[in-house]
Amino acid sequence: MMKPLQIALDGPAGAGKSTIAKTLAKKLGYVYIDTGAIYRAVTYRALNEHVGLEDGPALAAMIAEMDLRLVPSESGQRVFDGATEVTDLIRSSEVTNNVSFVARQPEVRDALMDLQRDLAKEGGIVMDGRDIGTHVLPGADLKVFMTATVEERARRRHDENVSKGLPSDLEQLQREIALRDKRDSEREVAPLRQADDAHYLDTTKLSIDGVVEAIERLMKQVVKR
Ligand code: DC
Repeated sequence: MMKPLQIALDGPAGAGKSTIAKTLAKKLGYVYIDTGAIYRAVTYRALNEHVGLEDGPALAAMIAEMDLRLVPSESGQRVFDGATEVTDLIRSSEVTNNVSFVARQPEVRDALMDLQRDLAKEGGIVMDGRDIGTHVLPGADLKVFMTATVEERARRRHDENVSKGLPSDLEQLQREIALRDKRDSEREVAPLRQADDAHYLDTTKLSIDGVVEAIERLMKQVVKR
C-alpha cells in the first residue's frame, strides 16, 4: 500500500484544477481540498457584513470570528461558516469578481494558513489553490502547476455554464479570467507562481482523463524515489 501523499495542485483560474483534483482524489480514495473555497467564503461573509474588501486587519478580525469548515461528501466538498452552509452561495459572480481583492491581503493569508495546513496534515489529500506548492505545503510529495491558454479556460467555463443552463458570454468570461489572472499573479503576497520543484502541465490540448493519467505517472515517480 502506497503511503498517503500530499499532492499540491496550483494554477490560474479555470485551468481545470478542481475537476482534476476531484477525479484524482476519488480514484485514489483521497480527500479533495479546494482552498479557493476558503477565500470565497471569507469574501462572501465580508460582502454580507460590509467589511472593507481591502481592509486586511478588519478581515482578519472577521476570520477570527468565523468557524470555517470544509466537509468532504459524496457530491464534493461542502463549505460551512458555522451552522450555515455556503457551498453554492460562494460561487456567485459577485464573490468570483471580488475574491482577488480579499485574497491579496497579507493578514487574510496569514489567518488562513493554519486551517489549510491542518486539513492536509494526515496526507492522502489533493489540495488545489494558487500557493499550495510555494507557501501552504512547501514539503508536499508531489507538486503540479496546471495551466491552459486563457481562450481554452474561458471556453471550458462557458461550456460548463451552458451545460448547467446558466447565462454565459464567452468574451466576457475571457476578460474576467484574464483580469483575475493578473490580480492573482501580480499581488505582493504569495502570488500565483510555479514552485521550483513543481511539474508544469499544460492542459490546453488534454482531456480530463489525459491530465489525470499524467499526474498518476508523476505519482509513480514520487513513490519510486
Ligand atoms: O480557485 P478559485 O477560483 O475558487 O479561487 C478563488 C480565488 O481565491 C482566486 O481568485 C485566488 C484566491 N486563492 C488564493 O489566493 N490562494 C489559494 N490557495 C486559492 C485561491
